[in-house]
Amino acid sequence: MGSYNLSKIALAVLLTALGMVGISSLTGAIFKQADLTKDAFPIKVETAPVKSAKNVVVKKEPSLAALLAVASVERGQKVFKKCQGCHTAAKGAGNRVGPDLWDVVGRSKGGVKSFSYSEGMKAKGGNWTFQDLFIFLKKPKDFIAKTKMGFAGLKNATDRAAVIVLLRSFSDAPLALPTVKAPDNTADNNTPG
Ligand code: HEC
Repeated sequence: MGSYNLSKIALAVLLTALGMVGISSLTGAIFKQADLTKDAFPIKVETAPVKSAKNVVVKKEPSLAALLAVASVERGQKVFKKCQGCHTAAKGAGNRVGPDLWDVVGRSKGGVKSFSYSEGMKAKGGNWTFQDLFIFLKKPKDFIAKTKMGFAGLKNATDRAAVIVLLRSFSDAPLALPTVKAPDNTADNNTPG
């Protein structure tokens, strides 16, 4: 094929293209296009192949340890304003409507001898771990049946972590925070090892 032929082909292609542009702008001007609610024809989007399962990062709720690690005592102090109507937390400050919260983290549930706890609290048993406080403070009456603590709870997990970190500081020897595990992406599949 000579270069003459090639440029003829090129010209033909160009003219066709110009013609199409011309027609489409013409029709566009004449017919007001209805808004498309979906693609007029299926568009195939090439997606990159999914890498091996181990590389897939599964988004999970942050663990309590992770929430506590980044929790702010300052935020905890704001949240604690909701508790102060019923609780004191200073050493030896005594009970109000609720028991003294000095040293509560790690203490046995219902552990203040001078306070008259509900039957549910007395029956619960065990110590106030970070985990138990986290569940209790979300909705007290779900954790302890017929609790005397007339408080709806703190829905926000960050608020709960913050107030727990503050409660932890109400102690001469604060309990060690739980360690944050390294991200483990293999936990959700059944691959051994
Ligand atoms: C309306 C009063 C009231 C408010 C508000 C309140 N509490 Fe209480 N709290 C109580 C009472 C009463 C108890 C005892 C519950 C029982 O015996 O069932 C209690 C018990 C507790 C306990 C268990 C203590 C122990 O010695 O076992 C913790 C922890 C606690 N409250 C934390 C909080 C925190 C944190 C807040 C704020 C986010 C809060 N409370 C808000 C009244 C209150």
